[in-house]
Amino acid sequence: MRLSRYFLPVLKETPAEAQIASHRLMLRAGMIKQQAAGIYSWLPLGFKVLRRLENIVHEEQVRAGHIPMLMPTLQPADLWRESGRYDDYGEEMLRIKDRGGRDLLYGPTNEEMITDIFRSHVGSYKDLPLTLYHIQWKFRDEIRPRFGVMRGREFFMKDGYNFDLDYENAMHAYNRHMVSYLRTYERMGLQAIPMRADSGPIGGDDTHEFLVLAETGESEVFYDSEITGLKLGDREIDYDNWDEVAGICTEWTTPYARTDETHDEALFDAIPEERRKTSRGIEVGQIFYFGTKYSEPMGAVVTTDTGERVPVHMGSHGIGVSRLVGAIIEANHDENGIIWPEGVTPFHAGIVNLRQGDAETDAACERLYAALEAEGLEPLYDDREERAGAKFATMDLIGLPWRITVGPRGLKNGVVELTSRRTGESEELAPELAVARLRDIYAGHI
Ligand SMILES: Nc1ncnc2c1ncn2[C@@H]1O[C@H](COP(=O)(O)OP(=O)(O)OP(=O)(O)O)[C@@H](O)[C@H]1O
Ligand SMILES: [Mg+2]
Repeated sequence: MRLSRYFLPVLKETPAEAQIASHRLMLRAGMIKQQAAGIYSWLPLGFKVLRRLENIVHEEQVRAGHIPMLMPTLQPADLWRESGRYDDYGEEMLRIKDRGGRDLLYGPTNEEMITDIFRSHVGSYKDLPLTLYHIQWKFRDEIRPRFGVMRGREFFMKDGYNFDLDYENAMHAYNRHMVSYLRTYERMGLQAIPMRADSGPIGGDDTHEFLVLAETGESEVFYDSEITGLKLGDREIDYDNWDEVAGICTEWTTPYARTDETHDEALFDAIPEERRKTSRGIEVGQIFYFGTKYSEPMGAVVTTDTGERVPVHMGSHGIGVSRLVGAIIEANHDENGIIWPEGVTPFHAGIVNLRQGDAETDAACERLYAALEAEGLEPLYDDREERAGAKFATMDLIGLPWRITVGPRGLKNGVVELTSRRTGESEELAPELAVARLRDIYAGHI
């Protein structure tokens, strides 16, 4: 993409309404525009990041054996009357009437609808296990939408639902979700810690929230610093192997890590003092086993091998895809702007032309552009007639992890400059070597 032809409406001034860095930077970098409280348009740069995250989520879900589909945003109220949640859900549910006077709602989540799909088409234990998911817009009429996309009213969420014959199978589905979520966040350059969560009125303790540590997070968190050393890396995972998957979950859930809702002072105090950490965190996902809460009232039953009809055991598992864009920025920025992790960056590298209009410099930039594209990389070429300082400021603000600076002086010596946004370190090297370097850096990411 050439910047002169792109739509990147960066703001010079810091918007007064934005209280936290990610919200400020998303507005300043021209990623989003607010249309109403908690409702945003995703401008091209923001949309690109959102799509990158969506793709990572899809890839990791499919890898875990979960099946993608798509349910509508609008749902009939009658489904929710069956589960009893139409009245229970309260003011957060946006209720709509169509021209025929029928009650609809903009879905805040999809347990009822997926249960309806299941009961319409599945009747035998032989069709289990089954996990279906979609990535779709949700609406919750939050009383206090704030922090930009982090607490919106309309937001983009992955929600998946497992259907299993019994508790043990459902627990394997739960564990599979935990591991696939850990992989998902890691690929996004984030560490999200699974923390035992409060299951509320449903009972049982089979729910975990995933929290990204950040000073601006809404939850207070307490954890053993041992947990921040854990990494999946490029471990091969066999998602059909119950013990292997459960073993990874044990690794991640053994060190103490809880939010204020489930915090236990006595357990926390038992950790050696130097490992006891208190911080704040952003909830970027949650997994939940709830057994037959929906299958029973809604009649989602299967016939077992002995001919018995039993309600299926279910769980639901969500990732806040749009919130993650903000969370990643909270964890990756400095005073000049965003610093995208390689796995989610909207463009792989920026090309800055220091002497636009100079035939040789322009030609060198064009060659670099073509060479990067030939490697499957997406460059953003700042080809505007602007001063170098302004071009650098824009690149720093939008946070591409790598910048190649091309100017007549360097070209005389056969070099361009490759700069890391994260460290600020620059290196002069031949253009072909800069391309090769970027190819290697992104090898695991495209
Ligand atoms: N208003 C929102 N704006 C953006 N993302 C959200 C919002 N509400 C929930 N999410 C994301 O969707 C994920 C799954 O939804 P879930 O039902 O667990 O949310 P929740 O626990 O009600 O969230 P919260 O406690 O932050 O209100 C959350 O972990 C979060 O990342
Ligand atoms: Mg939650």
